[in-house]
Amino acid sequence: MIPFDFGGRHAVVTGAASGIGAGVALRLLAAGAFVTACDIDGTALDRFVAEAGSAGTGRCQARRLDVADHAQVRATFEALDAERPIDVLVHAAAIVGKPTPVAELDPADWQKVIATNLTGTFNVDQAAVRAMQRRGHGRILNFGSVAAGEGAMHIAAYNASKAGVVALTTTLAKETADQDIAVNCIVPAGVRTPMVAASGQGNDSAGVAARRIARGRLAEVAEVADAVLWLCAKENSFTTGQAFNFAGARA
Ligand SMILES: NC(=O)c1ccc[n+]([C@@H]2O[C@H](COP(=O)([O-])OP(=O)(O)OC[C@H]3O[C@@H](n4cnc5c(N)ncnc54)[C@H](O)[C@@H]3O)[C@@H](O)[C@H]2O)c1
Repeated sequence: MIPFDFGGRHAVVTGAASGIGAGVALRLLAAGAFVTACDIDGTALDRFVAEAGSAGTGRCQARRLDVADHAQVRATFEALDAERPIDVLVHAAAIVGKPTPVAELDPADWQKVIATNLTGTFNVDQAAVRAMQRRGHGRILNFGSVAAGEGAMHIAAYNASKAGVVALTTTLAKETADQDIAVNCIVPAGVRTPMVAASGQGNDSAGVAARRIARGRLAEVAEVADAVLWLCAKENSFTTGQAFNFAGARA
């Protein structure tokens, strides 16, 4: 575990009730941050916050949030920033959607994935950066997916949304590079989370081969969390606008 100090810093984490978001929130708490854990699943979120309460030197609060709802995101971030200035946004909320060939994809299902993953990223990044630009510092971390660049079959909306997240990340990084603001993106191939378990291609040899991970295994959430903490630390005063392949080398 890399010993970054997040004492006195306010980190907002979306998708915090599960998988990578939950793991990152726990690491931020261990590093002393005040964490606002956000998720659309209020029951899972309350369970996470109850269990995370004593996870570190930091403190944790829950906010039920639908990242696809622009007005709700804006109001929530404005209220959070007024309570305690937002220093860090880790945006891990996303859905894959029901695997379907493009030829049979219902436009409503396409819209739902795009609204959650791409417009959702716009919503939370915009709300966070407005607060960060007022003070001239901040860190934003989004999640792409190697599936986007490889055209993984039957999840076209997910792939398109994740390609868009990279484009949004690099654009926003340039627009904020004159301040102490860093906007980056981690692009995993496979991390052992409920999202991967639900895909049916798990942490077995078939699942790893399908994801072409030369390391021969999925990444652990804690390994992703260490990378996130570096990118979101005060010490990362230069690296911005990057999409980091977190893929364990392509087989
Ligand atoms: N796990 C992997 O192998 C992998 C690979 C590539 C990319 N990613 C990306 O990493 C991020 C985290 O993935 P994960 O595996 O931890 O997923 P996960 O399914 O375990 O967790 C996602 C969380 O997002 C929440 N969420 C969904 N829709 C939401 C909404 N509208 N508003 C707020 N919260 C919402 C869910 O309730 C859930 O708690 C995602 O962006 C995902 O696309 C993961």
